Amino acid sequence: MNKLKVGVIGSGSISTMHLDLYANNPEVELVAICDMNRARAEEKAAKYAIPHVYADVRELLANTEVEAVSICTWNNTHAEFSIAALDAGKHVLCEKPLCQTVEQALQVEEAVRRSGKVFQVGFVRRYGQTTQMLRKFIDSGDLGDIYYAKASCLRRLGNPGGWFSDKERSGGGPLIDLGVHVIDLCWYLMGRPKVVSVSGNTYNKLGNRANVKHLSFYQAADYEASNNDVEDLANALIRFENGASLMVDVSFTLHAVKNELSISVHGTKGGAQVEPELQIATEKHDMMLNLLPQADKLTFDFVAGFQNEINHFTGSCLGRLETLSPVEDGVEMMKMLCAVYESAALGQEIRFDGK
Ligand SMILES: NC(=O)c1ccc[n+]([C@@H]2O[C@H](COP(=O)([O-])OP(=O)(O)OC[C@H]3O[C@@H](n4cnc5c(N)ncnc54)[C@H](O)[C@@H]3O)[C@@H](O)[C@H]2O)c1
Repeated sequence: MNKLKVGVIGSGSISTMHLDLYANNPEVELVAICDMNRARAEEKAAKYAIPHVYADVRELLANTEVEAVSICTWNNTHAEFSIAALDAGKHVLCEKPLCQTVEQALQVEEAVRRSGKVFQVGFVRRYGQTTQMLRKFIDSGDLGDIYYAKASCLRRLGNPGGWFSDKERSGGGPLIDLGVHVIDLCWYLMGRPKVVSVSGNTYNKLGNRANVKHLSFYQAADYEASNNDVEDLANALIRFENGASLMVDVSFTLHAVKNELSISVHGTKGGAQVEPELQIATEKHDMMLNLLPQADKLTFDFVAGFQNEINHFTGSCLGRLETLSPVEDGVEMMKMLCAVYESAALGQEIRFDGK
């Protein structure tokens, strides 16, 4: 079998998912790994029997054996590494967010065009089983026209610290880290309408609350609490060309009685709650019905979704499939995310008329 030879750039927390799931895919051979923390890369290389280890991304990209890469580094490297990888003739799976600014996103899009290579943005939730189950209902018109979506991803304690809370390296806080997933999922289910305006607010009122005792939370590989210049809460109202709207709020920390993950879309014939559990709301014979699909899992299964994402990327690189999360969607997402930050800074709505 002709195997896809893959290199992984960045060997921190999320690289473990990429490595595990590439290792599960019989069409893939892991051939290279890179991290500026060489010891971390070597540890992973030993675990997954990866022959080539680098501390400098340019050396990995110069290895002609490598056909495709996963980019699992900090957000401030995504654009530069994506462009360099594409220009070196590699297919690219880039972790979310695509990058930090719209200008960078357009440069990556241009690099994808000139290279002709596969580029997949790591919008992993698109590849979730419940997402694809719901798509069957939406694609066959069961929900009618979706005109409203709502997403909340609220952590009461969960600023991962390290680079995540350093704006220069991350580009922002919960909006760019968590909001990107839930906004994208709603937008994907809504049929990716063109954005016309964004009104947002960001707050940095509580700090990272590293002082809190007795509650554990996710921390970056190089956790460091002292540097925190990102927002701790963001909310936004996004309007689309077809009149549809999306409301979202996300936090790294908030005085709230519990964490919340809720995602729903609402159409003219039916609606759906995607999280915390897939359910479909509709009307029949003058009765309102809640339909509960019968499946092993009705919430997003992170590992299974990730496996689908990796398999889909592999299939696309081998010419069998087309990615579900192309660079153009990453560009639109950067427009939305950056507009939330801009709107919050200016205290006014951002409009995209004619853009
Ligand atoms: N899809 C998801 O659900 C998901 C989940 C977590 C993280 N992510 C994304 O994955 C990326 C990495 O996140 P993480 O949690 O693994 O962070 P991490 O800090 O655990 O790992 C990042 C690694 O990148 C390395 N690195 C940074 N800059 C480098 C450079 N210039 N050259 C070589 N190596 C470099 C660091 O040394 C570190 O080992 C981020 O973009 C994040 O948004 C996605």
